[in-house]
Amino acid sequence: MSAPFPFLRDADSSDLLEAAAEVVERMGRGETSGTMKKIASLAYFGVAVGLVQWAVLAGGQTADQGWLKYRPLNRQLSVPMRVEVRGQSRIERAAASELVRGLRSLAGGSSPEVGADSIVLATVEELGREKSKSIVPKLEPEEFQISWSQDQSLRGLDIVGGSERGLLYGVFALLRHVAEGADMSHAVVRENPAMPVRWVDEWDNADGSIERGYAGRSIFFEGGRVREDLKPVSEYARLLASVGIDGCNVNNVNGSSPFLTSEMIGGLKRIADAMRPWGVRLAISVDVASPQKIGGLKTYDPLDPQVQAWWKAKVDAIFALVPDFAGFTVKADSEGQPGPASYGRMPADAANTLAAALEPHGGVVLYRAFVYNHHLDWNDPKTDRARAAYDIFHPLDGKFAPNVIVQIKEGPIDFQVREPVSPLFGGLPHTRKAMEVQITQEYLGQQRHLVYLGSKWKWVLDQKKQLADAAREVSSGASKGLAGMVGVACVGRDAWLGSPLALANLYTFGRLAWDPNLTPEEIASEWVRLTLFAYPNKKLRRDDVQRVVDMLMQSWPAYEDYTGPLGLQTLTDITGSHYGPGIEGSENNGWGQWHRADHEGVGMDRTVATGTGFAGQYAPEIAKEYENAATTPDDLLLFFHHLPYTYKLQDGKTVIQYLYDSHYAGAEMAAEFVKDWESLKGKIDPSLYSNVLPRLEYQAGHAIVWRDAVVQYFWKLSGIADEKGRAGNFPGRLEAEDAKLSGYQVIDVKPWEDASRGKAVTCAAAAKSCSAEWTYSGVAGVFDVAVNYFDLQGGAAMFAVTVNGKPASADAEWSADAMLPSRQPNGDNSTRRVLRNVGLAPGDVIRVTGTPDGDDPAALDYIEVLLNRGH
Ligand code: GCU
Repeated sequence: MSAPFPFLRDADSSDLLEAAAEVVERMGRGETSGTMKKIASLAYFGVAVGLVQWAVLAGGQTADQGWLKYRPLNRQLSVPMRVEVRGQSRIERAAASELVRGLRSLAGGSSPEVGADSIVLATVEELGREKSKSIVPKLEPEEFQISWSQDQSLRGLDIVGGSERGLLYGVFALLRHVAEGADMSHAVVRENPAMPVRWVDEWDNADGSIERGYAGRSIFFEGGRVREDLKPVSEYARLLASVGIDGCNVNNVNGSSPFLTSEMIGGLKRIADAMRPWGVRLAISVDVASPQKIGGLKTYDPLDPQVQAWWKAKVDAIFALVPDFAGFTVKADSEGQPGPASYGRMPADAANTLAAALEPHGGVVLYRAFVYNHHLDWNDPKTDRARAAYDIFHPLDGKFAPNVIVQIKEGPIDFQVREPVSPLFGGLPHTRKAMEVQITQEYLGQQRHLVYLGSKWKWVLDQKKQLADAAREVSSGASKGLAGMVGVACVGRDAWLGSPLALANLYTFGRLAWDPNLTPEEIASEWVRLTLFAYPNKKLRRDDVQRVVDMLMQSWPAYEDYTGPLGLQTLTDITGSHYGPGIEGSENNGWGQWHRADHEGVGMDRTVATGTGFAGQYAPEIAKEYENAATTPDDLLLFFHHLPYTYKLQDGKTVIQYLYDSHYAGAEMAAEFVKDWESLKGKIDPSLYSNVLPRLEYQAGHAIVWRDAVVQYFWKLSGIADEKGRAGNFPGRLEAEDAKLSGYQVIDVKPWEDASRGKAVTCAAAAKSCSAEWTYSGVAGVFDVAVNYFDLQGGAAMFAVTVNGKPASADAEWSADAMLPSRQPNGDNSTRRVLRNVGLAPGDVIRVTGTPDGDDPAALDYIEVLLNRGH
């Protein structure tokens, strides 16, 4: 499914060099105001250097593949074109060059008029040296103010930051407003981030692979060391800074001990250097067993003085090379990672040992509350993974050092399609807390499915009662309570997140961490306006923007509908890829993602009265709501209760009927996304259009695979009919196992629900090609014909469809070369190709020929004759 970078570069590097030359030349002609000339010339020099750097980057992996496109507005801008910068730090130079680049590009290709007015960039400190104290605003370090000032005859737009970083955020805010077409001629904007910690976590390994990454290999590491070419890292930091992200943890939380060797720290310094101009500070994940694993000590007991001295020396060595190092993230006593429990110590002991080493330098520890036993006894109805974080961390409230932040996943399980908010947010009133969310779509379609996560995160942030004091402190901007948001991004070399529309999630994460009061619609709309462009060169229509915003807004509910509604979580195989349907895959194993479906009912009883007691971890008024099925919101019902299939939801529909209906509705919505996108043809950037369309077509097909798997599973298990007659009934479907087969052999697919009626056919490795043949017996007409097959890794099988020996349509022959998970035919790789406008008459022979290649046996599930869209 990976596709070439679709986005056109907007501001071509020769333009930028020309812009740099122009400003420097104007300087030479003395076109700046007298006293400012020296400062300005320094500034312009910085700008020129910056632009040269960008020119060198041309053709590489760049931030404009995200949203920093600065597409020309082709009109005079509402802000001055002249940029003056008071300071010369790297961040200020980066801010100034970004502003010149952005304005120049936004103003259009022609030489914009550079009048006498200027935009002045300064920190409060710098401004205080020039102006009287009374007119210098008082700003928090990361705060900025954009406002107009009148100095004798000159009108100026001041961007003032509480620090250099504040100034940089002000520049990006101004550029965003201008790029969105806002009139800034009288603007006053003042913003301060709601939380001090706004980090992305990357789960990159030293060998260049990325855990749960779906966009190619690491931009940071390769072959056990830091990559030579770190230009993509600078560009990534630029992208992050543009939405206010101030920290980046670059390595996987698992297996992190190699990152503390001296050689690696030298490489990490280069990464920190590459990100520094953009105010993004380096953080790393550490293995608490490092003193033993790489330090040669006999122990890693966090209370052992030798261990504590080891950490202190290690941290000092890091700060000697990276003076603005942000801190450590820790995963310990979890999923096989070593931890303080080995010595009978608590998470607070490990966290405080690291914190003591970091404290003199101003570093922090983000200690993850994702600590649980993955060897749970599934036969014990009282056992519950969801309880673990609260059970372990709540008793430690108030015992953490001030520079420890407990990093809590949004929900108590693991980034499922929907979970309640973790009760630990309300359970640590005296501890600093950060909320961890996942930008990379591990359980949410792995960037092959469009799932806009802004709505999900906002839903979480809106659970004010569950977030208890944390929520109040978010809105008041205090640093206690919710001290931060961390987004697990896992960007790679394939256009950052692979899919262009998935970048809305990275953008939205930063914007929400900056200001959790923004709505997902407004953020989506910003992103769409910065990213989607009219073609050819027309004004982007409001309707078209809204269409894409609507698609984004509908995508999480749709995904929830066709994967795991009613709080069932994503019904995927927990021990496998976490991608396709695998309903039983989370049962009968120790990982604890159980949903307890049986013949009578479904859902996990987490009540205090009869279940695991998890509901009791919330504050009393919320606990009471979740304790009772009648007061539990429908979308979390089966997370808290085991109920009969005939249980009635709030609108009177039974649980089983809701399961059927939601899966059909979700799959229909996914099909609508294709039509929505098709309606943009000829109106938007053609390369974006053609990059996204096949992704949405794939999603629509895979949503049907999901729908059918979940519906047939619960239909069979419950024995209850679908009152709309759809379960088990597929008009027009012709099963491969019923066909006249040549070479193909019938197999049982595992899990059975991943294939129609549990069976498929595969072509023996030795066979050159195999075929399945049906005689058509329906009415005559022109139809769409869907072919459901399994696209396995390890080869690119060929498929061809004929009717009476002739190609069924113009695109009736294709290669199964997508990169989908798993090497066995199942719901991970079950996929669908729709042939358009196939003429059929009774008695016609439809044949699918599959030619295996390597490990791909051209496995086939069924074909389906669909009503043609023209009918
Ligand atoms: C999930 C994910 C793992 C990851 C873990 C974590 O379980 O599947 O790959 O290591 O979360 O957050 O630590």
